[in-house]
Amino acid sequence: MTNKRIVVLISGNGSNLQAIIDYKTLNYKITCVVSDQEEAYGLMRARMANIPTKTIPSNKNLKKEFDALLLEVLIDLNPDLIVLAGFMKILNEDIVDTFNGKIINIHPSLLPKYKGLHTHRKALEAQDKYHGATVHCVTKELDAGPILGQCQLTICKDDTEITLKEKVHQAEHILYPLIIDYICNESISITNNQPQVIQKRKDLIIPIRINL
Ligand code: GRF
Repeated sequence: MTNKRIVVLISGNGSNLQAIIDYKTLNYKITCVVSDQEEAYGLMRARMANIPTKTIPSNKNLKKEFDALLLEVLIDLNPDLIVLAGFMKILNEDIVDTFNGKIINIHPSLLPKYKGLHTHRKALEAQDKYHGATVHCVTKELDAGPILGQCQLTICKDDTEITLKEKVHQAEHILYPLIIDYICNESISITNNQPQVIQKRKDLIIPIRINL
């Protein structure tokens, strides 16, 4: 039951990776951090935590080659869970099929609102009262897989894209390790063929919603 093997995919800063590293648990172990960017600061964070890293530069490989290399690396690593944490490449169908129900992502909006980019701007333009982050299963449709948990915060009158981004990041750092831990200790299950969230513990409301 303990120490599920997780692989984290990043492209940049890796602040979510850091929160996942820092979370005190015996339920998971990060066995590798994979980046598509050689300069990603997240790789440094992994090295500082003695976590093995792998880089598959997306700028030096054609998309098809990159996808094939990534699939090969992931099969070789044989993770229980693949965690996308600011990974800026869309996973191809082969990868999603091979690891169906085993890939999760964090997205900076209260999905189903604002899939894709510029989520903070969109929330401000829509004059939303609330904004936040969502952890969801990865399926073939972008940012549309079943929701595993959300963290909601109130948008203040003087919030800008920059302040909202910062607040959402802080929310993500609470939400993401928690959801990963729940999956790894099997409080949340995702069925293999069709990702679904099953409530196993009565004290958990799923999708989990944290209000900041
Ligand atoms: C986060 O805001 C996450 O929601 C999005 O990419 C960003 C990654 O930030 N998918 P970091 O690299 O973890 O700091």
